[in-house]
Amino acid sequence: MALPSINPTTTKSWNALKAHFEDIKDVKMKDLFAKDSQRANKFTIKWEDFYVDFSKNRITEETFKYLLELADDVKLKAAIKSQFSGEIINETEGRAVLHTALRAPKDADFKVDGVNVMPEIYQVKQKIEGFTNEVVNGDRKGYTGKAFTDVVNIGIGGSDLGPAMVVDTLQYYKNHLTTHFVSNVDGDHVNEVIKKLDPETTLFVIVSKTFTTQETLSNANTLKAWFLESASEEAIAKHFVAVSTNIKNVKAFGIDENNIFPMWDWVGGRFSLWSAVGLTISLAVGYNNFDSLLKGANKMDEHFKNEDFDKNIPVVLALLSVWYNNFFGAESEAIIPYSQYLNQFATYLQQGIMESNGKSIDRNGNPIDYQTGTIIWGEPGTNSQHAFFQLIHQGTKLIPADFIGFVKSLHGNQDHQDKLTSNFLAQTEALLNGKTREEVVTEGTSESIIPFKIFEGNKPTNTIYINKLSPESLGKLIAMYEHKIFVQGIIWNIFSYDQFGVELGKQLASKILQEFNNTTNNQHDSSTLNLLNYYNQMS
Ligand code: F6P
Repeated sequence: MALPSINPTTTKSWNALKAHFEDIKDVKMKDLFAKDSQRANKFTIKWEDFYVDFSKNRITEETFKYLLELADDVKLKAAIKSQFSGEIINETEGRAVLHTALRAPKDADFKVDGVNVMPEIYQVKQKIEGFTNEVVNGDRKGYTGKAFTDVVNIGIGGSDLGPAMVVDTLQYYKNHLTTHFVSNVDGDHVNEVIKKLDPETTLFVIVSKTFTTQETLSNANTLKAWFLESASEEAIAKHFVAVSTNIKNVKAFGIDENNIFPMWDWVGGRFSLWSAVGLTISLAVGYNNFDSLLKGANKMDEHFKNEDFDKNIPVVLALLSVWYNNFFGAESEAIIPYSQYLNQFATYLQQGIMESNGKSIDRNGNPIDYQTGTIIWGEPGTNSQHAFFQLIHQGTKLIPADFIGFVKSLHGNQDHQDKLTSNFLAQTEALLNGKTREEVVTEGTSESIIPFKIFEGNKPTNTIYINKLSPESLGKLIAMYEHKIFVQGIIWNIFSYDQFGVELGKQLASKILQEFNNTTNNQHDSSTLNLLNYYNQMS
């Protein structure tokens, strides 16, 4: 069954929200808090080790009611069911979307074309486990008999960002293996990594769903050539493994059949870290931690699938985001983790969110006349407080922000944790309340400076407070955003699981590549032609 195609702007709830927006757009959240001592309790969801407070949003109970009705009006419940039951909801690519199956228990029943995919998934998981243990324990050795010390993940986009983010985020749980990520086709990237490697003790993990991606194949070939300067062709079987759906191309690259970790076309690149694409994660933190990551994601899947929408974390976050995107005209959302470990989290989410929902054609193939995908950006607090918070507090743009924090620190330095937490709490409070003229005056500020010291406040934030950063809680957090993406795509009536927008640039790049040093047949605008000629002359 296809996903329903409903223009959200034609629904009753959307129009109720439109009218309601006029009433609420100037309402101050701090007045709502003053009027209702139960506000925080009403707009907080406590689930497992997650405490999600969304009370610092420009909503009332009436707003929330209309937003929940919007979820019903676009038939969200049926859409969730379609996704989990393996229907071809990625219609433009003719595929099911079943990354949730990758983290489901063995006895779950996920079918693609009537066939239960769980046995295959568990076969691959077993292979990941066995391989990980051999490498980590040093039983699997390189061509000179030495155990591996370094792992290089070669991939780009979904074949890089997820594993790179998770390995960095879970560095506290890491073993002795040193991990490297090569993604950019910029040769300086791979060469900087090569400087740190010893061919005798390095394992290369080539990750490419299609095994046709220019960047990944160029980097893989460069690393192979470098490796062969010291080792023989036979040594490749010991040092190179691949994760791909394209077994033919992997073999043609020279990789031993036993060293291929399959994946499936029902797993989208940006949702694939749960598959063998996460092999580098498993190698870096051990299989048990990788499995805990998956178990955490599965718990969030169950919550998303079964919980009523008013207590459903991904659904609520998605609805709030739509509220700002489509009614307040907010263009971007900030992700501010109060944990240095989540340094790469916003970068990771940029692909998940912007590649999925950066669309302007609806599910009927017609152009859309309302806003879709939000722009995602962010950096950890407290660093970001000293960088871009000025604009969030006193700039002209409305930027809803997710504040993600952990109650406990991993190294247990309570003094630092208290200071970090005080900032985490203070910033959302400051964004909520702002600072009035009267308050500035009481501080004894001279008259001419007063306007500059006023904070308007009323800036919306969600606080996502988690007990502790662990593989399991990280799995929950990532899955939470995955489901938020899905819900927003359903509301906006777009296809979230294709990415045709990345194709045009790729096609033109391969054409231009043919044209270097051959300017005769060029058909370009004069700007591109001049730049091409400039490169030819100067390089
Ligand atoms: O950027 C486009 C894209 O197709 C992503 O969706 C994907 O994650 C990435 O390229 C890498 O693709 P592959 O895994 O096939 O090399």
